[in-house]
Amino acid sequence: MRLPQGAAVRKADGVRRDPRQPQRGRARDLLAEGARVLSAAGLPTARRDAERLLAGQLGVQRFALYTESPAVSETEAAHYADALGRRALHVPLQYLLGWEEFCGLKLRVGPAVLIPRPETETLVEWALALTPPGSTVCDLGTGSGCVACAIAAARPDVRVVAVDVSADALGVAAENVTALGLGDRVTLLRGDLFAPLRSGMGAVNLIVANPPYIPSRVIPTLPAEVRAWEPRGALDGGPDGMAISRRIIAGAPAVLARGGALVIEIGEGQAAGLSAAMRVAGFRDVSTRRDLNGVERYIAGCLDSPAGPIRNAAGAPRVAVGPVELD
Ligand SMILES: C[S@@+](CC[C@H](N)C(=O)[O-])C[C@H]1O[C@@H](n2cnc3c(N)ncnc32)[C@H](O)[C@@H]1O
Repeated sequence: MRLPQGAAVRKADGVRRDPRQPQRGRARDLLAEGARVLSAAGLPTARRDAERLLAGQLGVQRFALYTESPAVSETEAAHYADALGRRALHVPLQYLLGWEEFCGLKLRVGPAVLIPRPETETLVEWALALTPPGSTVCDLGTGSGCVACAIAAARPDVRVVAVDVSADALGVAAENVTALGLGDRVTLLRGDLFAPLRSGMGAVNLIVANPPYIPSRVIPTLPAEVRAWEPRGALDGGPDGMAISRRIIAGAPAVLARGGALVIEIGEGQAAGLSAAMRVAGFRDVSTRRDLNGVERYIAGCLDSPAGPIRNAAGAPRVAVGPVELD
């Protein structure tokens, strides 16, 4: 196998590829060569990445690459070399494999969606704990549909309305919903936060969201894999990272049923500001939880007022969007 190197050409998609044909070989040899290439490209997970790319290409478990060292055809070697070339450019491994595991589900992912992160599994756990039987849940900023699918898969009594502003992201979410057989209970809607929720649909019992929450100025400092390849619209939370979260908090009371709850994944240093925003919006029992690194990463609160615009002390409507009902 000949691997990507200086002689590579840049194609229209900006990815460098070796114009020469790779040769077939044994998995163990291709693996060692692939690990060398990725290590030279500065990837700390070089061997593991090479293993996953080759195992994915051959449709075998990673350990079989060592125990069986299967023969690799010329076509398979070519695809593997192509994937190595992309990985050497720091294209996220999950985009190359085309999937990521989340809450025990195998989900399709691609450059249109944020790669589901392990910490978001804790958001799902909290959301499930806040979801009464027979609930309607609204997942704002669904991306791959990971949160919506995980909730629907865990709770057959629940239906989920999942919203995203990106049509491309919703295309990926739709594939996941269909592949997991959740189409009868997960509805995908395109639009800006609450805007696509139609009147006559009934109130929502829980809103869950993992919105973009990285401050705009921080984005250029993110690892290349994230900043160059994951969708900006999934990352950028505005000047202080809280622009979308604040809009969700302000709009939620108009959508939630009495006693409904809101749970959001948040960025580092945002807990105090967003807790205050939730209290102003009328939420009670506002609390935060930490992720495995000790960062306050999630915030939740309950609403004990009836759904619909709530007037604040000055008599002005407290929510920016009109009352919304889901049928
Ligand atoms: C951080 S990603 C989360 C994706 C997925 N829920 C997850 O946890 O992996 C945020 C998502 O919100 C979507 N989004 C950003 N602004 C939005 C808006 N105003 N209305 C609806 N969706 C929005 C983005 O397109 C993106 O898919």
